[in-house]
Amino acid sequence: MNRGFYTLAENLPLKPGISLLRLEGDSSAFQRPGQFVQIELPGYFLKRPFSVCDWDEGGFSVIVEAAGSGTRELLALPSGTALLVHTGLGNGFTPPDSLGLGEDLLLIGVGTGLSPMAGLARRYPEAKVLLAFRRLEDAFGQELFAGHEVCVTEDLLSPLVAIPHRFFCACGSESAMRAVALHDRAGGQIAFDVRMGCGFGACMGGSKKTVHGYARVCREGPVFEKEELLWED
Ligand SMILES: Cc1cc2nc3c(=O)[nH]c(=O)nc-3n(C[C@H](O)[C@H](O)[C@H](O)COP(=O)(O)OP(=O)(O)OC[C@H]3O[C@@H](n4cnc5c(N)ncnc54)[C@H](O)[C@@H]3O)c2cc1C
Ligand code: FES
Repeated sequence: MNRGFYTLAENLPLKPGISLLRLEGDSSAFQRPGQFVQIELPGYFLKRPFSVCDWDEGGFSVIVEAAGSGTRELLALPSGTALLVHTGLGNGFTPPDSLGLGEDLLLIGVGTGLSPMAGLARRYPEAKVLLAFRRLEDAFGQELFAGHEVCVTEDLLSPLVAIPHRFFCACGSESAMRAVALHDRAGGQIAFDVRMGCGFGACMGGSKKTVHGYARVCREGPVFEKEELLWED
């Protein structure tokens, strides 16, 4: 884990209230899509977690949706603002090597859960993409998956059966991830963007029940193997 200052270089609106932010600075702590960052916001005690969308030598990007006062303030900051960011957090997706360029891989992003799928899509150019939203008019971000076969839907479950795949990587809310885990017969990995507390392993906030006991999304996750997760009724 690293902590340092980053410069907000760009705010690219994907739709009203949702932007792709580029932050420039040291990107050496990023290893895999699925990892997250915690952004310190002036005046707020708790840091705000966001999945890393993608990164390069000069910095990284996140997708931010205005969900409350902290994210609204973040989206309103002018370019050039310096932000303290904790980087390289969490474990990230590790699809099996046998997937090669990803022709048998399905990337499933629900809402802002599509963010790490964009980073995976760049690494797996033949992967298929499923983007699910509560309503089709809420859809955004398709442009991040240029060159891929992309299904945009408000019915998450039917395409899971219809799109052939051997493995999936999925990210989104707890209810959506539960539906994916229980309906998709393929093996896969699931990342949660659950409500977290401290973000560094001390409070058990947002823990998940697994075959190994309770696991912290911020430390043992946010990515879990489908088979290790246990779902409450
Ligand atoms: C691992 C992870 C990855 C995430 N990735 C993204 C992403 O890529 N894009 C995105 O827009 N959002 C993402 N979120 C959710 C994002 O962190 C919250 O929407 C944000 O913290 C809300 O802050 P706020 O001040 O606007 O809202 P408030 O409701 O005012 O926040 C109050 C407190 O609750 C926490 N909180 C509120 N809602 C959530 C939530 N849904 N998840 C986690 N913590 C929450 C905040 O961090 C803060 O501590 C992610 C969350 C986690 C845990
Ligand atoms: S958020 Fe506190 S332990 Fe994970």
